Amino acid sequence: MEFALLNGSIIERSEAKVDVEDRGYQFGDGVYEVIRIYNGKMFTATDHLKRFFKSAESIGISIPFTILQLKEMLQELLIKNNLETGNIYMQVTRGTAPRNHLFPTENVVPTLVAYTIKGVRPLDSLKSGVKAILTEDIRWLRCDIKSLNLLGNLLAKQKASEQGCFEAVQHRGQDVTEGSSSNIFIVKDGTVITHESNHLILKGITRDVILDLCTKNNIPVQERTFTLTEIESAEEAFLSSTTAEVMPVIEIDGKKINSGIPGPLTRKLQNLFKLEIEKQCGVLVDNFL
Ligand code: PDD
Repeated sequence: MEFALLNGSIIERSEAKVDVEDRGYQFGDGVYEVIRIYNGKMFTATDHLKRFFKSAESIGISIPFTILQLKEMLQELLIKNNLETGNIYMQVTRGTAPRNHLFPTENVVPTLVAYTIKGVRPLDSLKSGVKAILTEDIRWLRCDIKSLNLLGNLLAKQKASEQGCFEAVQHRGQDVTEGSSSNIFIVKDGTVITHESNHLILKGITRDVILDLCTKNNIPVQERTFTLTEIESAEEAFLSSTTAEVMPVIEIDGKKINSGIPGPLTRKLQNLFKLEIEKQCGVLVDNFL
């Protein structure tokens, strides 16, 4: 039997239901988070939970638990669902109230839901790399909030998929921002470059781990906006996300990067990232390096 967390109680997954007037359902009025599970353990859980609380706070939703309380409930959920490899998905919405664009004024409590999803690491793609397209970033200007409103992201991802690609790398005019569900890095003259963290991108937890690994291992790194011209002439490129880890990009808009194979610095970062996972979650048996 599968279980889900609904407003602080662990119940049968099939019993976890929300009202048709839940503001998440009607307006996308909420935020979410995804935590990766390796060997039954949460990777970078506290960072994800901090971002979850920060995203909620930035839209005026107050989560009625502490980070520690929520972490303990998620831990219990993991054990009940016996999840070894996969993800925990969670979201919080402003709650259920008669449909009105204005925030509800009476005592409406947020709806908090979490459940688990089984899923192995994308080993084949991590090994061979993936293709991406470039597409104009049509999203709103608070991409730093992990909002449930993902329509811009979905349209971009779907477009990529229809062209046989894994990801859509978005840009505002000449400036590259991020993938539809990932951050993007390039390597230029041996320096790792990714967009600075501001309102135009989500400050990825994986991105943060990678930046930290670069600093600790004396790999030159820059957080700055880069252009379409720079990505076209990049020595290497890779994506980062909770589910995609350090994912090599070997082709963008039909043009090969590093002759179509994952670059040496990308491989090095994949290896360092794997060691980081193992530090927190134990040895990974399914590996490709
Ligand atoms: N997406 N940028 C966007 C737009 C994202 O949706 C994500 C993650 C990231 C990477 O963030 P992180 O490293 O913290 O996962 C960047 C998740 C995985 C998702 O929507 O499923």
